[in-house]
Amino acid sequence: MGTPRIQEIGQPAAEALRLDGVGFEAATDAGPLIILDDIDLVIRSGESVAVLGPSGSGKSTLMMLMGGLEQPSRGEVIVDGQSLGGMGEDDLAVFRRGRVGIVFQAFHLIPTLSALDNVAVPLDLAGIPDSRTRAAEVLKSVGLGHRLTHLPSKLSGGEQQRVALARALAPRPGLLLADEPTGNLDSDSGRAVADLIFAATGTGGATLILITHDEALAARCDRIIRMQDGHIVSGAH
Ligand SMILES: Nc1ncnc2c1ncn2[C@@H]1O[C@H](COP(=O)(O)OP(=O)(O)OP(=O)(O)O)[C@@H](O)[C@H]1O
Ligand SMILES: [Mg+2]
Repeated sequence: MGTPRIQEIGQPAAEALRLDGVGFEAATDAGPLIILDDIDLVIRSGESVAVLGPSGSGKSTLMMLMGGLEQPSRGEVIVDGQSLGGMGEDDLAVFRRGRVGIVFQAFHLIPTLSALDNVAVPLDLAGIPDSRTRAAEVLKSVGLGHRLTHLPSKLSGGEQQRVALARALAPRPGLLLADEPTGNLDSDSGRAVADLIFAATGTGGATLILITHDEALAARCDRIIRMQDGHIVSGAH
């Protein structure tokens, strides 16, 4: 018997993520462009949340703010109770390490490293032992045991996407931010990858933000957030 979990003694679950009054503007030749406007959002620890919305509605930008990869123009982003505002890039990188896993829409694999090393390097940085063994295991779990030594340029789009997912999952982060992680996969591979994501976040206990255009995949999450024109139109609470 361990210490009772907070939920079991009748308190609400801890917050994994909170956005308070968040806005994001980009400078363009035509002047400032509002990309996200007045976003209030709370995600509880262990929740799985799908983010749906038309192309250009701001989903990827929202994810970049959640991961501290972009700073909001206004408002506050709080991860694990810690406000990201005012943290420098180095502090943010250390804060994310092993805690936040990110699958980018455009993968962002390191082109000069093999699939295995792309997954192993973040494990090394997080001080996780036996990084190459663990990296190989996770790559096998996404069906890439036969592609460990390939450079990203020698992998198909769907294979690169699975390396990106393996890289994000391998450190067993408490928060997984995944931007259309099945967007390049056939239906069988997509389902297998989704099963892995939900295994990490369901019984694995991690919190999941899953950006997708796939309503069936979204329906597997605890909650669906819908975005339009830089606003959350439903599911914020
Ligand atoms: N740095 C920037 N400068 C100018 N415009 C930007 C910038 N970043 C994003 N945008 C614009 O903001 C809008 C939202 O972009 P975002 O990538 O968040 O959309 P999305 O919902 O992820 O779309 P998709 O489903 O196509 O991936 C788009 O119209 C995009 O062109
Ligand atoms: Mg996007």
